[in-house]
Amino acid sequence: MKHPVFAANWKMNQAPADAEAFLRQFLAYYPKTQDRTVIFFPSALSLHTVTIALQDRSDIKVGVQNIHWEDHGAFTGENSASIARGAGARYTLVGHSERRHVFGETDEQAGKKVAAAVRAGLTPLFCVGETLAEREAGRTVDVVLRQLRAGVAEVDKAQLHTFLLAYEPVWAIGTGKTATPADASTVHMAIRQELRTLAGARGEGIPILYGGSVNRGNAGSLLAAPEVGGLLVGGASLEADGWASIVRN
Ligand code: 13P
Repeated sequence: MKHPVFAANWKMNQAPADAEAFLRQFLAYYPKTQDRTVIFFPSALSLHTVTIALQDRSDIKVGVQNIHWEDHGAFTGENSASIARGAGARYTLVGHSERRHVFGETDEQAGKKVAAAVRAGLTPLFCVGETLAEREAGRTVDVVLRQLRAGVAEVDKAQLHTFLLAYEPVWAIGTGKTATPADASTVHMAIRQELRTLAGARGEGIPILYGGSVNRGNAGSLLAAPEVGGLLVGGASLEADGWASIVRN
């Protein structure tokens, strides 16, 4: 039986007052449940507000969208994993395609961020995904596995079973183009195989989320695909009733 994970990446949206209004609506639509996990990744500036708004809902988790790899110091404008934890985060995205492709984050930096997350007690939701050019060149699995290996290079593999992973093809993010459930499954199976190699039998239980133009119309069929253990959603997580209908899948 699947215990799906539904993660909302709000990206650079939802100021604290918007986040509060969203959650008031969403919580009314979504009663407490134990058979799935919902995680919100708000802007760092809305993190505290979201944590307070969810304090009576232990079934809903909160994460930060980005961390620096150092724990503290002279890094103006950055947030560390321990600061995020202090503000209420228990999860962090690492390796998101916008970090990689808009901000030039490297595989090595993503690996350092994963290690920083583990040091501070945040669970990484580690993201991998190929560009359209890489896909068309037949390099999807190579790219995704290279990103995965680099992402976990600096951590003890005995920790891996606590992580979450997401496959987000870059060409599917915010474009309205979604991988077919079969395409997503093929890549998820390659990731699963690598997780078995890295973590042994414990690699079996690591949820692998799909992300990229998920909406209320396609969420059910993606979630039903083999090895799709949840969904990581951008645009369609910004509207409370639409997001509630996705997490009720
Ligand atoms: P969209 O759902 O808007 O395509 O974004 C996906 C994503 O990047 C989630 O992290």
